[in-house]
Amino acid sequence: MLDKIERLPVRLLGTGHAVPSRVMTNNDFAKYLDTSDDWIVERTGIRERRIATDGETTAPLATSAGRAALVEAGIDPKEVDLVICGTVTPEVPFPATACFVHRDLGCVNAAAFDISAACSGFLYSLITGSKFLQGGTWKTALIIGVDCMSRVSDYQDRGSCILFGDGAGAVLIRRASLSDGKGILHHRMYADGKGVEMLYVPAGGTRRPANEQTVAAREHYLRMNGREIYKFAVSRMQEIIEQTLCEAGVRPEQVDMVIPHQSNLRIIESARQRIGWPKEKMLINIERYGNTSAGSIGIGLDECRKDGRVKEGSLILLVAFGAGLTWASALWQL
Ligand code: COA
Repeated sequence: MLDKIERLPVRLLGTGHAVPSRVMTNNDFAKYLDTSDDWIVERTGIRERRIATDGETTAPLATSAGRAALVEAGIDPKEVDLVICGTVTPEVPFPATACFVHRDLGCVNAAAFDISAACSGFLYSLITGSKFLQGGTWKTALIIGVDCMSRVSDYQDRGSCILFGDGAGAVLIRRASLSDGKGILHHRMYADGKGVEMLYVPAGGTRRPANEQTVAAREHYLRMNGREIYKFAVSRMQEIIEQTLCEAGVRPEQVDMVIPHQSNLRIIESARQRIGWPKEKMLINIERYGNTSAGSIGIGLDECRKDGRVKEGSLILLVAFGAGLTWASALWQL
C-alpha cells in the first residue's frame, strides 16, 4: 500500500562495473546444443555473454565494481558506512558476499549484508540503502548488484542457459539534503510469492541439501518456466513504469534515460513501444552481456555515465523484475 510519495535524498558519488574476461558466443552453444545464433538473437537479442573463470566469481566481481565506484568518487573505503550486495549467487552460502567486499576493499567502518531479490536485487538494494541513509544514522553506502548466473545455469537446457551471463555493477551513494532536489523521487517494490517456483534452484538449501541424488537430478541448476516468466515480465514492467511516472507526476518525455533490467530484448522493446520512448532513451546492452541478473542495472548505469548518456542533472528511470517473483522501480534525479 502506498501511503505517500517519499523522496529519498541521495547523491550519486560514483559508479563502477566488472565482468569476467571470458566471452561465450551463441555459436559456442550451437557447437553442442540444438540451437543457433539466429534463434538466440531473434528470440532474446543476446549475441554473447561473459562467463566467470576461477578468480572472477561473485565476490571478486563485486569487489572490483565497488572499487571502481570508490575510485571514481575519490572516497576512502573507511568512509563507507554500509555495504549491500544484491545477489542470488553468493560467493559461498554464508557469510554474505557483502562481507567479502567489506574485507577486500577495507570498508572497516561499514555494516555489510546481502539482499536476495534475483534480478531485482540491485533495485531492492539501492532502495534499502537509500532508506538507511535517509534515516540519518549513516551517510555513505556502497550498493552492488552482482551475480554469477553461469554457476547455476544448466548448460544442457537450451531453454535457459543461453540467457544468462555474469557481472557486477556498483553505485556509491551519499545522503543529500532534501533541499538540493536530488535523489530518488519515487520508487516501487513488489513481490508475488505465488511465483516462487517459476524460476528457482530446487536444491542446495535446507529443503534439499546437496547429496548424490540432487546432483544426479541436476537440481542445483536453475529451473525456469520461460513462457510464464515472459508474460509476467511484459505486463509487470509496463505497469510499474506507468505507475511510477504517473504517481511521481512525471511525463515519459521528461525522463532522460531508462535503464531496464536486461532480460530479453523483446520484453524491453514491448515496454518501450507501449510508452512511446525513442530507442535512444532506453539502454540496451543485452547483446554483449545477456541477463546478468542483479548485475545488469548497475552495469548499464555505469556504461551510460561513462559514455555521457547520463550525467549530473539527468532524470533516470531504473526498472527490474525477476525471480521471487519480484519487481521494482526507481525514478532518480541525479
Ligand atoms: N534454441 C532453439 N530452440 C529453442 C531454444 C534454443 N535456445 N530454447 C527453446 N527452444 C524451442 C523450444 O523447445 C520450443 O520448441 P517446441 O515448439 O518444439 O516446443 C520453441 O523453441 C519455442 O519455445 P518457447 O519457450 O515458446 O520460446 P520463446 O519464444 O518463449 O523463447 C525464451 C524462450 C526463454 C527466450 C523466452 O520465453 C523468455 O525470454 N522468457 C523469459 C525468461 C527470462 O527473462 N528469465 C529471466 C527473468 S529475470
